[in-house]
Amino acid sequence: MTAELIDGKAFAAALRGRIATAVAALRAEHGITPGLAVVLVGEDPASSVYVRSKGKATVEVGMEGFQHRLSAEAPQEELLALIARLNDDPAVNGILVQLPLPRHMDEAAVINAIAPEKDVDGFTVLNAGRLATGQKAMVPCTPLGCLMLLRDRLGSLAGKDALVIGRSNIVGKPMAQLLLADSATVTVAHSRTRDLPDLCRRADIVVAAVGRARFVQGDWIKPGATVIDVGINRTGDGLVGDVDFDAVREVAGAITPVPGGVGPMTIACLLANTLTATARANGLPEPEGLTP
Ligand code: GUN
Repeated sequence: MTAELIDGKAFAAALRGRIATAVAALRAEHGITPGLAVVLVGEDPASSVYVRSKGKATVEVGMEGFQHRLSAEAPQEELLALIARLNDDPAVNGILVQLPLPRHMDEAAVINAIAPEKDVDGFTVLNAGRLATGQKAMVPCTPLGCLMLLRDRLGSLAGKDALVIGRSNIVGKPMAQLLLADSATVTVAHSRTRDLPDLCRRADIVVAAVGRARFVQGDWIKPGATVIDVGINRTGDGLVGDVDFDAVREVAGAITPVPGGVGPMTIACLLANTLTATARANGLPEPEGLTP
């Protein structure tokens, strides 16, 4: 059996199209243009690429993009003062501080300084707690994108055995919460997990977010399983995921490629969150299909 490819690129393009339509309607009917502020501290090359593509995607759907760059040596107070200004700026509906931050900064303190209603990354403790307790939250973009792809492929996730490999605050933990909220039976594996291959063989859904190139092997996969590869690893032979794609593809029912799978969904979901935040800020109905 050769797995069906889950075309995240096409799904994300359709999502961005719907967002652009909704943004145009917001402007025409209410004179509102959603604004997204992206903050980059330092010159990490990968972060610079991400921030540029986020800015480009923002403008393409008709939103206003604000980019703020601070030097790698900027004191934390300068970043906190910028966040405070953005929190108070009515033209800004979403704030994203690109991670990782320089080592002299307290990441949690910086993230939690973002107004929860503008926290389009869903990283503040308030939004993480809301997600965990089933309250209306801003949901982290990558797991939200994975959830959309899974629902599109499988319909209801109720009762499915889902294995999330990785326990980061950005992907693993919120992914597990989203799957649980959809009534999947969720296992979270990590570096200290014993007998990962065996756990994996029981899973109908595997979400790999470990950051290790080609880590998930073909003989770990239950025939017909749906495999979502969150990894983006730069190797000698280009970008590869956390899944040994060629081997897993022969066993799985469906799989996301790298690139062209989860990656494009992350940016589309950032725009979705910005639109949702704008609707909420203005007391307008939220466009459908953008939140869990
Ligand atoms: N660094 C890597 N992924 C992300 C993300 O989704 N959001 C932010 N802010 N930083 C990141």
